[in-house]
Amino acid sequence: MDFNLHEEQRMIQKAASDFAQQECLPGVIERDEKMLFPRQQVLKLAQLGFMGMMVHPNYGGAGMDTISYVLAMEEISKIDASTSVCMSVNNSLVCWGLEAYGSEQQKQQYLTPLAQGQKNGDLYIGAFLLSEPEAGSDATSQQTTAKDMGDYYLLNGTKNWITNGSSASVYLVMAQTDAAKGSHGINAFIVEKNWPGITVGAKENKLGIRASDTHSIMFADVRVPKENRIGEDGFGFKFAMHTLAGGRIGIASQALGIAGGAYQLALAYSKQRRAFGKEIMHHQAIQFKLADMATRIEAARLLCFKAAYEKDNGQDYTLSSSMAKVFASETAMWVTTEALQIHGGYGYVKEYHVERLMRDAKITQIYEGTSEVQRIVISRAILK
Ligand code: CAA
Repeated sequence: MDFNLHEEQRMIQKAASDFAQQECLPGVIERDEKMLFPRQQVLKLAQLGFMGMMVHPNYGGAGMDTISYVLAMEEISKIDASTSVCMSVNNSLVCWGLEAYGSEQQKQQYLTPLAQGQKNGDLYIGAFLLSEPEAGSDATSQQTTAKDMGDYYLLNGTKNWITNGSSASVYLVMAQTDAAKGSHGINAFIVEKNWPGITVGAKENKLGIRASDTHSIMFADVRVPKENRIGEDGFGFKFAMHTLAGGRIGIASQALGIAGGAYQLALAYSKQRRAFGKEIMHHQAIQFKLADMATRIEAARLLCFKAAYEKDNGQDYTLSSSMAKVFASETAMWVTTEALQIHGGYGYVKEYHVERLMRDAKITQIYEGTSEVQRIVISRAILK
């Protein structure tokens, strides 16, 4: 077993770290406070090839492996989780799904510009529309309908909590075509945001990842050409589940980065803050916290790498991606809380970044499958 990163992976890690320091750190507090979408940052990510990292170069991607993706997500998330979630959704929920299951025509038309993150010099990214007001964890209970009208489908319904909701040009939408068939009656469609009948709701005012744009999307008699259905009739739920398995590696890596960012801040603070006549790092109460943080972060990283390795090697990564996500997200919540505690009162104010990391950590236990859903996936796999 080789735990060393190879040369190219180290270069990507460094490029992501430099990007986070130089492009994301300036203004990150203001973007969080004012809920400003990180447009410039995402355009820069596109130029770096980070919006379609794992897509084959034939389709506009950078052709990198999933380990590199984990490394890039980790580094960017240490500083700016609002930017990294936009990157994660485009890479693993949108581009991966299209590359794995899209037709050749769909790949040429949609995947290629999505993997480049831009079209005609403008931002061009995607969103994944599964959740609904009444269907979150219970994803098979889709209420959005896609009525088969012959050479097109008629789409009606509402989707909730959509990351990249207003900035995306392309939506991958799951909808029920035949309710009698349950999950086998669900289809996935490629829908362009500017088609008639689509309304984007107001930007959600969130606890964390406040700069990312989360919206409801409403569909009223939207005509979707038949050739925009992804895969065979009734494949939509499996499409969503397979795609989410990869997405969970992205969110696990995001959680890993949030934890790492908070840990680094706490470590630096403990070396300069003095209390009771010495730097607080000399107090065992702080040392034990730092030791536990470092250990849990390392364990989370290894789980992310394992899931990424399995994905890169054509193995089933459903179990390992759920393990990585539940462990890394719970690590992020715990580490950020402890990091804030080490900072004392300073941790509670915005300038020190750690309170934002704690707020950002929470969503990693919720989106792309709650911790409870991950435990359903894990327990089913180990009990079957
Ligand atoms: N891979 C492939 N197929 C799968 C699968 C997987 N991981 N999980 C289930 N399936 C298949 C099953 O085999 C079954 O197929 P058959 O009928 O042919 O046997 C079918 O799908 C239905 O599966 P279940 O009976 O297991 O379905 P369920 O109703 O019990 O639900 C669940 C299972 C795991 C809870 C699933 O509903 C789930 O993952 N829910 C969470 C949804 C989620 O993650 N939402 C996040 C929204 S996206 C988001 O957050 C994006 C964003 O913007 C950041």
